[in-house]
Amino acid sequence: MDKPKVVLGVSGGIAAYKACELLRRLTESGHDVRVVPTASALHFVGAATWSALSGHPVSTEVWDDVHEVPHVRIGQQADLVVVAPATADMLAKAAHGLADDLLTNTLLTARCPVVFAPAMHTEMWEHPATQENVATLRRRGAVVIEPAVGRLTGVDTGKGRLPEPAEIFEVCRRVLARGATEPDLKGRHVVVSAGGTREPLDPVRFLGNRSSGKQGYALARTAAARGARVTLLAANTGLPDPAGVDVVQVGTAVQLREAVLKASADADAVVMAAAVADFRPATYAAGKIKKKDGQDPEPIVMVRNPDILAEISTDRARPGQVIVGFAAETDDVMANGRKKLARKGCDLLVVNEVGERKTFGSEENEAVVLGADGSETPVPHGPKEALAEIVWDLVARRLG
Ligand code: CTP
Repeated sequence: MDKPKVVLGVSGGIAAYKACELLRRLTESGHDVRVVPTASALHFVGAATWSALSGHPVSTEVWDDVHEVPHVRIGQQADLVVVAPATADMLAKAAHGLADDLLTNTLLTARCPVVFAPAMHTEMWEHPATQENVATLRRRGAVVIEPAVGRLTGVDTGKGRLPEPAEIFEVCRRVLARGATEPDLKGRHVVVSAGGTREPLDPVRFLGNRSSGKQGYALARTAAARGARVTLLAANTGLPDPAGVDVVQVGTAVQLREAVLKASADADAVVMAAAVADFRPATYAAGKIKKKDGQDPEPIVMVRNPDILAEISTDRARPGQVIVGFAAETDDVMANGRKKLARKGCDLLVVNEVGERKTFGSEENEAVVLGADGSETPVPHGPKEALAEIVWDLVARRLG
C-alpha cells in the first residue's frame, strides 16, 4: 500500500523548530511527508533541514520545477495538509483564499482534510480579525487546533503557544484515519467532567480521591478531534488544558454540580468521568483545625453530596441527550455495574475495576461499557484514548 501523503506547511514563527519533531513523528509512523515552508519560515529553520528530514526537495515558490506544476499537484495528491505553526498571517491568507506562494496555492488546491496548529502572541490570537478567520476556516471544515497556554517567544506567557508536536500528531493521525468525511461529532456540544472533587475541612485540608483526570482529558481530546465543541469540567487535575477545548475548573462536588447543570443545558451528550465525593464534611472550619493536648480528635461529621449523574439522567436538559457515567468498582465489578446503571438512569455506564495500582494515574484502562438497552461492549486493555474513542462511537450511534 502507498504511504499516506502528508503536506506539512510551515509558516514563519519561532515555533517552526517544533515542526521538525512533528515531521519526524509523521515520517517514522509511515507517512510520506512533503514539507512546504513559507519564505519567512526559512528564517527560522532552513530548507536543508526540511529536505533532509523529509527526503523530498523543498521549495517555497511556485516558480521552481514549473514543468511539474507543483502549485497544483502537491495539494491535489495530498491525503492531509497540516500547517504547523500557522501564523496569524497564514490563517488570514487561508481564510481569504490568497495564493501568493507554494503553501497558499497548495491550501487552495487540496481537497483532503486540513489541520492548522496556530502559534502567535496572545494579542494576535485574540484579535477579532484572527478569531473571524479561524471561525471561517472551521466553518469550511478545517480543523483549527486551539493554541496552548504557556511560555511564548520572550519572557511573556499566555495563550498562543504551539500545541506539543505529540498532540498535533495525534490530531493528524485521527483526522487521517477518518479521511475527508465529515467528523461525526461536528456541530455537537459535549460536556465531560474529569478528575476528582475535593471536599475541604479547613483552609489547608480536604477529603479527596485518587482520580488523575487522564481518562476525562482523553475523552475531551478525542471529542474535539471528532469535531465536537467540548466543555471540560476539570476537578483538581493539574493537567494542561487540551487544545481546542473550553476548560472550566471546579473544586468540590457542589461546584461541579453547578458547572454540569450550566454546561449541559444545551449539550448533546454529558460524560461524567469525574470521581465525585459522595459525602462532604458537614462543617468547614474557617481557621486551621488545631490538635488539643490530651484530647482525642473531634470526629468528622459528613453529609451527602448531590448525585449529579442521577440528577441529570432523571431530569434531562434536552430530549435525546445522551448521558454516560463511569463506575469505579473494587469488588463484584460487573454485578455492581449493572445495579449502578439502573440506579443512575444514564444511557451508558463505563465499568472498570480500580485499585491502588489499577487505572488511577495510569495511561491505560480496561472496561466494559454497559448500555441501558442491555448491550455490553468490552474494551480490551489499552490507552485511555482508545476507550474514549469507543465511548464516542457509542454516543454518536445514540445521537443518530
Ligand atoms: N457521580 C455523581 N455524583 C456523585 C457521585 C458519583 O455524578 N455524588 C457519578 C460519577 O461521576 C460517575 C458515576 O456517578 O460517573 C458513578 O460513580 P461512583 O463513585 O462509582 O458511584 P456512586 O454513586 O458513588 O456509588 P458507590 O460509591 O456506592 O459505588
